[in-house]
Amino acid sequence: MPQSLKIEYIVVPDTDALAVRAAQHFVEVTEAAVAARGRARIAISGGSTPKAAFKLLADPAQPWRARMPWQKLELFWVDERCVPPDHPDSNYRMTREALLDQVPLAAVQVHRMEGELEPDVAAARYESFLRNAFRLEGAETPRFDLIALGMGPDGHTASLFPHTAALEEVGRLVVANHVQNKDAWRITLTWPVINQGASVFFLIGGTDKAQVLSEVFTGPRDTDRLPSQLISPASGILTLILDKASAALLPATDGSGRGVFEREE
Ligand code: 6PG
Repeated sequence: MPQSLKIEYIVVPDTDALAVRAAQHFVEVTEAAVAARGRARIAISGGSTPKAAFKLLADPAQPWRARMPWQKLELFWVDERCVPPDHPDSNYRMTREALLDQVPLAAVQVHRMEGELEPDVAAARYESFLRNAFRLEGAETPRFDLIALGMGPDGHTASLFPHTAALEEVGRLVVANHVQNKDAWRITLTWPVINQGASVFFLIGGTDKAQVLSEVFTGPRDTDRLPSQLISPASGILTLILDKASAALLPATDGSGRGVFEREE
């Protein structure tokens, strides 16, 4: 973990602009990964915020679909709910409806977490898949080219919820995590895996996130209460793509809607 983390944030006016800026970020980082390494392995989160960006990526009337190097892309998930892939709560289903059904990604390029399985089995299978896909040896960690995160009003990210067992897991790549206050099981990448991402960003919007966002990024360290504070990329840089409402309590941005500050780790 770096001694201090450089947090770069981009603030856009509203929800629609947030989806556009997120689509642009997905394409730009993917293009850069393909140019540098010939491929792009991306891990995406679920929830509601990314859905609009996925729809823009799929929309032939938008510039993003034509720019995205789909044939060089492999899609993974940051986390999944322990439900079947056609369940209304499934992150995979949301992504299939908003993106996958409309873009030229072959099934072999799309690696969903098997939420329909018993949680520990699903986690172990995904971990095994990652070890093979990234040709990992021993204690090596997969290095995704891009990891897209969201943040809940409780400060969770991925399925790393406050006061849950997964926050303590540093040896595994993927774990099942029981979320008491949802009485639900989740599958999630562990935070050390997320921190190995070459490029990691949070996509956050809405007034209801302003207070927790400020606490996470500018407040005292309290990772058990604010698991998003565990995200401290080894690269030393974390990007936030925010709308004005969610960024309301952060230091003002410059004229171009950009800001940067350091957080001691
Ligand atoms: C999930 C996500 C989760 C999400 C946050 C924010 O499975 O729900 O991975 O971590 O990113 O809950 O969700 P919203 O974008 O809906 O606010």
